[in-house]
Amino acid sequence: MKITIYSSQPYDRKYFLEANKNFGHQLIFHEARLEPNTVELARGSDAVCAFVNDDIGEITIEALKAIGVPMIAMRCAGYNNVDLRIADKLGIHVVRVPAYSPYAVAEHTVALMLSLNRKIHRAYSRVRDGNFCLQGLTGFDMHGKTVGIIGTGRIGSIVTDILQGFGCNVLAFDTIESEVLKSKGVQYLPLNDLLAQVDIISFHCPLTPETFHLINEESLALMKDGVMIINTSRGAIVDASAAIKGLKSGKIAHLGLDVYEQEGDLFFHDLSDTIIRDDVFERLLTFPNVLVTGHQGFFTEEALVNIANTTLENIACYGDDKPLQNVLHLDQAIAR
Ligand code: NAI
Repeated sequence: MKITIYSSQPYDRKYFLEANKNFGHQLIFHEARLEPNTVELARGSDAVCAFVNDDIGEITIEALKAIGVPMIAMRCAGYNNVDLRIADKLGIHVVRVPAYSPYAVAEHTVALMLSLNRKIHRAYSRVRDGNFCLQGLTGFDMHGKTVGIIGTGRIGSIVTDILQGFGCNVLAFDTIESEVLKSKGVQYLPLNDLLAQVDIISFHCPLTPETFHLINEESLALMKDGVMIINTSRGAIVDASAAIKGLKSGKIAHLGLDVYEQEGDLFFHDLSDTIIRDDVFERLLTFPNVLVTGHQGFFTEEALVNIANTTLENIACYGDDKPLQNVLHLDQAIAR
């Protein structure tokens, strides 16, 4: 199978080439994102492989159809950037990697919490500068704190387990409640009740119209002063302008982001020589109590191996006329 891999970075090349020793596909790597004006690069391919910030909306999918590409293989779990309705209408298969390492994202989530709490990002710079003063580095015990988990699927469940290990009280909100988590003492609450009670809130739900800008001025008003907000899910769950207001007023005492609504123009590239024109993002970076990582929650050795193997296997099933694995169906489409 000839596969055109978009948005590829050196590490994608490394892990896909290694995994491909077991498959023998023809892999063509491009740094460019998949979007309407890069579709042509995939002419003659049996599948395109795309990532979180590619534009796989109506125009792109129609263009793929026009050049005869029958499959879109997402090398990620989230698929909010794919218009499944159009893909279904045009008979283009969409596959993904539903779970490559929920531990990777869950552990990164907790890393953000602990770093912000104990101000590791500031301590690192101070000590290297010969400044051993502790003033301003006060943290708090995680033990006994109430944490709200929004979305208790694969990643949210693991975050819950880790936090319960710290002695946190975990409250949850999900459209589907987990009996396993309930048996471990997790209490599900209506969203607004949860917002009012938590010291820390962490997002592990998909981006949908219901979760778009779930953190906004109204929801922030319901929360305790000094709340910690962590988002490793999808950027648009947090309205960044509302978060800036919350940071300025002290409503938000800590903000940890691995994702950002406009990250498509920023993340996964070295922009250190350029002027970043996103003033909202730049303002966020000025706060000492904000920690941003560039969508690296998934980025572990184990996850990269699993992503490459599962993606190539998903495509091989199609080539070998076997039942498709990890296929996204119309009923999973996210309303737009
Ligand atoms: P999952 O599908 O196992 O769990 C998602 C949970 O969210 C489910 O329990 C679902 O019922 C719940 N949910 C759906 N709509 C909801 C709503 N409106 N309100 C509250 N809960 C809702 O997904 P998984 O594997 O745990 O991943 C969660 C999210 O993490 C993904 O959607 C993706 O956006 C993000 N992610 C981020 C990565 C990173 O590198 N930062 C890597 C992988 C995933």
